[in-house]
Amino acid sequence: MDETKIIVLPSVLIDQIAAGEVVENPTSVVKELIDNAIDAGAKRITVEIEGAGLAVLRVIDDGKGMSPTDAPNALLRHATSKIRTQNDLSKISTMGFRGEALPSIASVSKLTLVTRRPEDDFGTEVSVKDGVVTAKPCAAPVGTTVTVLDLFYNTPARLKFQSSERSIMGQLNDLMGRFALAFPQLHLTMVAKRTLDYPPCSNIKDRAAQVYGAALGANLYQVHDERNGVEVFGVIGDPSVSRLNSSRIHLILNNRQIQDNVLRRAILNAYSVLLSAGQFPVAILSITLDPSEVDVNVHPRKTEVRFADIDLVARAVYHAVSKTVTKTPWLQQSKPSYSDEPPKLVQDGFGVRELFEFPGEQQTDLFSSELAQPSSHGLVESFSALRYKGQVARTVLVCEGKDSLVLIDQHAAHERVNFDRLWQAVENKQVAQEPLMFPEVLGLDPNEIAGLEKSKDLLLSLGLDLEFYSGDSVAIRSIPAIMRGKSAAALVRDCAQAATGSSGTTGIERLHLMVATIACHSSIRAGDALSDDEALTLLKSMDSVKDFAGYCPHGRQAVVVHPISTVLRWFGR
Ligand SMILES: Nc1ncnc2c1ncn2[C@@H]1O[C@H](COP(=O)(O)OP(=O)(O)OP(=O)(O)O)[C@@H](O)[C@H]1O
Ligand SMILES: [Mg+2]
Repeated sequence: MDETKIIVLPSVLIDQIAAGEVVENPTSVVKELIDNAIDAGAKRITVEIEGAGLAVLRVIDDGKGMSPTDAPNALLRHATSKIRTQNDLSKISTMGFRGEALPSIASVSKLTLVTRRPEDDFGTEVSVKDGVVTAKPCAAPVGTTVTVLDLFYNTPARLKFQSSERSIMGQLNDLMGRFALAFPQLHLTMVAKRTLDYPPCSNIKDRAAQVYGAALGANLYQVHDERNGVEVFGVIGDPSVSRLNSSRIHLILNNRQIQDNVLRRAILNAYSVLLSAGQFPVAILSITLDPSEVDVNVHPRKTEVRFADIDLVARAVYHAVSKTVTKTPWLQQSKPSYSDEPPKLVQDGFGVRELFEFPGEQQTDLFSSELAQPSSHGLVESFSALRYKGQVARTVLVCEGKDSLVLIDQHAAHERVNFDRLWQAVENKQVAQEPLMFPEVLGLDPNEIAGLEKSKDLLLSLGLDLEFYSGDSVAIRSIPAIMRGKSAAALVRDCAQAATGSSGTTGIERLHLMVATIACHSSIRAGDALSDDEALTLLKSMDSVKDFAGYCPHGRQAVVVHPISTVLRWFGR
């Protein structure tokens, strides 16, 4: 009886198993081939797709090409020009290094590679079928063209689990967009049923406008900071263009697109006062650090990496983003959002259903600026002249203007009013103080106490008089008069947090943050029931704000105006 149960697998099968890790679908093939083109120094990369990439998938680059001897070797497993020794593995600066992509792709398709170096008169054509590599000289332009036909023809199980053509095209569009954002200087084109063309851009902001539309581009602000050897560069979006998912948070580490939850959280934390839970900012951030500080060899698709000191990187990201966020550039430039479009709802035979979203396609949401086109209505001239109709969800005041529907977030609007009043009082050195008859004593953690102590004079100028006791407690002697009747302890807790989180910010930024914190605490909350009189008083006080920008000091939107003509259009009138 034959006892042999264990055999060494034939190399074709080994290649196919390995391909399972990297070559999941047409998108992963295009990703690997573009990676190779970038490593070859290409300036222009064209992708051609037929039949969702399962029939024909071609990537053409104008990079440095390969010599006639190297070209067939590129298709051997573990053959790479990018690393030589174990030492090289610890400082990788190329996209690829595993020497696996081409043989893996070749093992599940019919692959041809045509390549020529600028210094060679002839090019080389290499093709592989069923594991057999053949090479011959040919005429060719400088650069490399890889043609992949009949992807997964010999792995029917993989083929069966491919998504629909629409969904694959969605993924490919998304991939091209992400490469475009990571490499603004490249000319990237995808020729399919619909051609996608990203000519080179001189900066990331222009590139973002190219990929996501000019409306978004106008709402992006530059981020640039360096600390502890970590450079963070890129753009972040105004809160008005935030999204309901994180699809527009892009992290690019040493030119590689990566996924990292800790860094994503650092971005969200920097925005925390601006966005509510479930909202995600637009952020395209390029992080540069010494390659030896990061291990890129932890994931076959190289989308996840391991940092020697993730904390250091997260802190750099947080500070870089919050430096721009605390400057709140959108406050100076903001405008109320005018929506000229109906909500994203469509009618079907049974009433109203949510707009159907195709998987993989760009999602639209109500926060996207594409929907917030300015109308001819201009600003609300007088809030007190609006006809107040009532309160919705104890949060939104519904008003009728001359020919508009005006919705006001009661908390955000009141906060803006209070912010302005306090800011003016600070400028005139006339902040009213309200002494507490019985000083309130509060226990805080040492960091918070230290933060408060550092900001003691600043807080005093805002009417918040604190006395520090030994141990970790602090007594509140007086509060800003604007806070009368509100919880002083909650305010001081938040000021403490603002003070600890704001190291490295300038005096004026800290002042802005503290004034915003006090304004927030002294304002009507979402969820407070308002009498008609209270609502009217709020509307009246909004008139006193010079240039009511429609945003609260935290950047949250306060006023939304819909022209009546638009509202009527929602109902087909
Ligand atoms: N478009 C190209 N232009 C020039 N040389 C290329 C190109 N594509 C591949 N090569 C050469 O072929 C080699 C093998 O490519 P392959 O993608 O299989 O491995 P890799 O890029 O080295 O590593 P990885 O498996 O991580 O992608 C590369 O190291 C490179 O020298
Ligand atoms: Mg590669």
